[in-house]
Amino acid sequence: MSDIPTLSAGSHQRHGSNIGQPLTRRDGLLKVTGGARYAADNNPDGLLHAVLAVASIARGRVTHLDVEAAKAHPGVVDVMVPGNRPALASDPDEKSNPFMFRLDLLQNDRVRYAGQPIAVVIAETFEAATEGARLLAPTYETEQARTGLEGEPFAPEKVGAGNAARAQSGDVEAELAGSARTLEAVYETPAQYHNAMEPHAVVAHWQGDRLVIDTPSQGLAMAVMRVAGLFGLTPDKILVRSPFLGGGFGSKGFLSSAQILGILAAKLVDRPVKLALTRPQMFGPVGHRAPTRQTLRIGLGQDGKLTAIDHATLTASSTFDDFFEPASDISHTLYAAPAIRTSHEAVRVDTGTPLFMRAPGEATGSIALESAIDEAAETAGLDPLEFRLKNYAEAEPISGLPFSSKALRECYEQGAARFGWADRPREPRTMRDENGLLVGWGMGTATFPALMFEAEARAVIRADGSGVMETGAHDMGQGAWTALAQIAADAIGLDLTRVTFNAGSSDLPNAGIAGGSGHTATAGMALHKAGEAVIAKLADLATEDEASPLFGADNVGVIARDGKLLRRDDESRGEAFGDILKRAGLSNIEARGKAGGDNAAREHYAMHAHGAVFAEVKIDPDLCQIRTTRLVGAFAAGRIINPRLVESQLFGGMIWGVSFALHEEGIQDKRSGRIVNGDFGEYHVPVNADVPSLEAILVHEEDQLVNLLGIKGVGEIGITGTGGAIANAIWHATGKRLRRFPIRPADLL
Ligand code: MOS
Repeated sequence: MSDIPTLSAGSHQRHGSNIGQPLTRRDGLLKVTGGARYAADNNPDGLLHAVLAVASIARGRVTHLDVEAAKAHPGVVDVMVPGNRPALASDPDEKSNPFMFRLDLLQNDRVRYAGQPIAVVIAETFEAATEGARLLAPTYETEQARTGLEGEPFAPEKVGAGNAARAQSGDVEAELAGSARTLEAVYETPAQYHNAMEPHAVVAHWQGDRLVIDTPSQGLAMAVMRVAGLFGLTPDKILVRSPFLGGGFGSKGFLSSAQILGILAAKLVDRPVKLALTRPQMFGPVGHRAPTRQTLRIGLGQDGKLTAIDHATLTASSTFDDFFEPASDISHTLYAAPAIRTSHEAVRVDTGTPLFMRAPGEATGSIALESAIDEAAETAGLDPLEFRLKNYAEAEPISGLPFSSKALRECYEQGAARFGWADRPREPRTMRDENGLLVGWGMGTATFPALMFEAEARAVIRADGSGVMETGAHDMGQGAWTALAQIAADAIGLDLTRVTFNAGSSDLPNAGIAGGSGHTATAGMALHKAGEAVIAKLADLATEDEASPLFGADNVGVIARDGKLLRRDDESRGEAFGDILKRAGLSNIEARGKAGGDNAAREHYAMHAHGAVFAEVKIDPDLCQIRTTRLVGAFAAGRIINPRLVESQLFGGMIWGVSFALHEEGIQDKRSGRIVNGDFGEYHVPVNADVPSLEAILVHEEDQLVNLLGIKGVGEIGITGTGGAIANAIWHATGKRLRRFPIRPADLL
């Protein structure tokens, strides 16, 4: 690999004082005081309110809507149905790339899933629109719904956003046949619904041929392109503003049908329109995590080493689109084995199209693989940690590529030490607490790829010595507004207080998407490059000017720090940014930077973050109530921009792991195809009482290859490893292997 250049920081760059600081969220005060304006908080003059009517059947046709009754209701302005829906420039069912989500925009009377929008009522008030929607009283021609994992089979070529559906290294069948021991187990994971705290909402305002949209978005540039295509507009006529999101988790990556319908409604009535989903409406048109049934076959040698891993996933997609959960892919990465095979098959069922949901594939796959690895350790007669170390992958198993960096051993060591794993008895059902509760300890390995996308940013230095850094980044609550500003300030050698950081709007440079745990790396690198470029311009001004103390120091000899350029060879000689600009007669200087798509090392190295999660559960032996009482995770994810925010991200992921193991499940009625628990009363997510003692250890890791800043990303890894650790702890407490998630008290009876 010696021909692969190691990325090196630009010569005048030096990590300044902002990166690495545990700052609180810069928007925190606004949020806790109600000052942060979310999409639905916008109320332009003349605003009308739109409410969706959604299908209560999963398959069939709408035969009648009582539009007259709805229109007769006081305050109702109009009702949008297939017959009067404004024309679109492209077919909502057309898909020209994998990053398009087919939409339900009242194109006909078909119903493809329960919860599908079938009409939009527009009124002077939200209440009138809600009542109007009720008065539509739809009737249907109903066909038998296909639910769960019982539908028409299909075997796609690609999974997720485009990975191969099938992959293999070595000869799995031969290895299994020659193994000292084999085990086979089937794991089931349910449909889950993203349910961010902020339901999807849109305020759409047509201003002549311009369109202004306030809506939460994890991908502003993609949103603009989607709207441009549907409405036949050029992108410059569209402004999407998304300064704050109340969570996204993948469901706000693509504009949903509901958001586009809000824009159509505004067009129909030629007034600004607000459309916000109700909580139950979040269970249908905005994506979900698909259910899976995963079969794992594992071969073991006499020495306790893995000989083969065969990971086969059956999942479900909708009848009209093809996203599906790439659950088996986790087995490409984690454990060394001479033979590995992964495959995916799917069935088409009558649901909304599934979508990326926090750690798509890795979360579902990890809970199965980590459970199976625990069974394999037991079969081999080894401690689960010892077993994992024995099967540690020094190179990425399926590809054979070296890792750009991998501090997983350190994660195991530090997490185990902190948790006290060495005291764990091997045998299950051997620990009790002082109240007689069964106690179990389990562990799981966490991993998530270090992805990067493409992004751009703009940097400005002004003659007053301040700076402006901007990119259309997205803050879902994860702290992008803070972490990216820290990177931005260091990139131009200024204290954060001297930098205006702009993000969250589509008229800023394209920051790519906030997804795949790649936003800090992607948008951060764009900011870094923009900073590098503007400092280089400033350095040119100074080093070519005889009046500057920097005269003669060429670009490679200059450092930007604390608002000054300094000679690298003699840091006592330098000049303030403002002085350089003023002498040149400039009020400001600016440059742009780009990131992504240019790292040759990505072809030659496997790039992943890693972690180890240790869980304690306590179980009432009579009532079978299960509580996670303690979680310790140790994670290595390259450079940590802001340890406070990273810890918070990891906590959020780990809590979701608890949710995956013990709480969350969207239950579909087999007759109607409806999600019967589509609200927060019945769709269980952890509340404070369910959150155990949490610790997240940030394990030191340096990576010169992943990107110039060494960032791997932390948004999703916390959910991986954790669910399996909890399932394994339940086995350790009770001696029962439970393979259907979520695990419920009844499963222990
Ligand atoms: Mo995420 S599922 O990439 O928002």
